[in-house]
Amino acid sequence: MEMVEPSSHRVDIEQGILDGASGRYIKKLKDLSGLYADQEAYDSALRSNAESVVYEVTDQRPVAHSGDLIFGVTCMQPGKIGDEFYMTRGHIHARSNRPETYYGENGTGLMLLESPAGEIRIVEISPRIMCYVPPLWIHRSINVGDKPLVMSFCYPSDAGQDYEVIQRSGGMRSRIVSNDKGGWKEVDNKSYKPRGDSDIAAILATADTHS
Ligand code: NI
Repeated sequence: MEMVEPSSHRVDIEQGILDGASGRYIKKLKDLSGLYADQEAYDSALRSNAESVVYEVTDQRPVAHSGDLIFGVTCMQPGKIGDEFYMTRGHIHARSNRPETYYGENGTGLMLLESPAGEIRIVEISPRIMCYVPPLWIHRSINVGDKPLVMSFCYPSDAGQDYEVIQRSGGMRSRIVSNDKGGWKEVDNKSYKPRGDSDIAAILATADTHS
């Protein structure tokens, strides 16, 4: 087995990046079509802010094979489309039973989780809060604060990401919107189509279990 050099990486909570990361990607507003309920508000935001960065991920991927870990930092700007807060595209792991941890570094946000059967869980994240995303949960993070939401994360290197699972169901079952007290509330996503038995079986079939 190949030996890899140990390393340490500073989490820069001001810039929202992992120092010395080997990978980086950004999502701009124009990359996030179809995520938000209010299409008119999205189109209007695109006209003035299409190139603005909504979130950035810097990560370190030591080795690609199973058994290793990928870790990094995600930074999401504050903002809303209509009354709906900025969010990540969201995914389930391509190997659906792979878990993940998120740790709050700066700002305030939520992890919105949905089981294949459509149950919703919401976990609040702020500095020094560790969030566990168990196997089989679809997950998306949402910035409900007024400054950048910075989190560090870690997941198995063979997890992969399946983004289409959310598109196929018309989005996640709940949306997170502003309430009239400056906070957030959960509302139903009117476009949501519950998964049938065969859709759920397809998700479970990607679980890769060895004992
Ligand atoms: Ni994930």
